[in-house]
Amino acid sequence: MKQDEMKASAARAALAYIEPRLGRKSIVGIGTGSTANLFIDALAEVKHKFDATVASSDASADRLRSHGLTVLDLNAVSEVTVYVDGADEVNPQRALIKGGGGALTREKIVAASADKFVCIVDESKMVNLLGSFPLPVEVIPMARGLVGRALRKLGGYPELREGFITDNGNLILDVHELSIEEPWKLETQINNIVGTVCNGIFAAQAADVVFVAGAEGVRQL
Ligand code: 5RP
Repeated sequence: MKQDEMKASAARAALAYIEPRLGRKSIVGIGTGSTANLFIDALAEVKHKFDATVASSDASADRLRSHGLTVLDLNAVSEVTVYVDGADEVNPQRALIKGGGGALTREKIVAASADKFVCIVDESKMVNLLGSFPLPVEVIPMARGLVGRALRKLGGYPELREGFITDNGNLILDVHELSIEEPWKLETQINNIVGTVCNGIFAAQAADVVFVAGAEGVRQL
């Protein structure tokens, strides 16, 4: 099976979490990236099962609207039923690195708002130790140097993502050569660097469920 087919299988598996709720709105939080895009396409086939969506990026919002799906501002909803998104790396404890598409801050906000976080990946994303994928860190532009120097002290090699501005108007530093043995601890340490908006470790906000698609089919973690 090709990687795109695996991503599509994982995306379809997440449809099991989309269902109407008696007396309450069913709101689906939507991630960003190629796997999330495949989920959006699959979601369009079950429009009758939910009320509306909340998107983690302008790109995902545009794709949702192109399917005729309703996209609400997060502040307009009191709860998000389920959040579905891909990841760049997943460890056995379901902690993640995200932000390859640069949408990590809004992704973490929507994930934090959701009752359940369902992650959808192909098996190439599974790792024992997070950090081979350069860790994305969103920074306020004027703090780029300050945050970069602090990240060096933590053992990483930050590189500015050239020509990229986030949906929030900020920059991304991709931090190489971090060996993330304690994801929750490093997530907190980076969050504490002044000028950091968000970092791509999702450990405090780990996935509740991961659907991993491989050549043999989809397994649940
Ligand atoms: C975007 C993300 C994506 O979920 C991550 O980069 C995985 O993308 P893809 O599904 O295209 O492999 O965090 O900010």
